[in-house]
Amino acid sequence: MSLINLKPKVTSIIKDSSESTVSRLTKICEVLKDSVAYYDWVGFYFANHEARTLHLQAYAGEATDHTVIPFGKGICGQVAVSNENFVVPDVKAQDNYIACSISVKAEIVVPLFKDGKNIGQIDIDSSTKDPFTKEDEVFLEWMNAEVASIL
Ligand code: SME
Repeated sequence: MSLINLKPKVTSIIKDSSESTVSRLTKICEVLKDSVAYYDWVGFYFANHEARTLHLQAYAGEATDHTVIPFGKGICGQVAVSNENFVVPDVKAQDNYIACSISVKAEIVVPLFKDGKNIGQIDIDSSTKDPFTKEDEVFLEWMNAEVASIL
């Protein structure tokens, strides 16, 4: 499914106030993973700014050991401090990378801002090499802004 066509689905999940926030985030992860062929693991991490750690709150895909990631470590930890999207076409080319599964070839992490503050991020792993384009970045930025409205 094209990313544009996913927008109404994502919006309806976000607007469903009968579900908890974590449940809505989990549903978004599931919809993304099931709808986009090259999204193989999708998760939301949120920051504890005092401890300088990221915490996995919701995900779809294989369980990961990396539920807590220090700021600065791995792709996720780097985005916690850079406040910028990080697109990794080939994870093997990254020194500061935390491997979750040997099948992962590429990764995209897009920060999530609430009132201008970087409070978390969406992290997507792919078993396809170099699959992410500007279209993914634009879509995920839009989605994170929508998610921020319920946080
Ligand atoms: N690969 C990430 C760690 C999280 S897993 O992909 C679920 C990183 O380097 O930060």
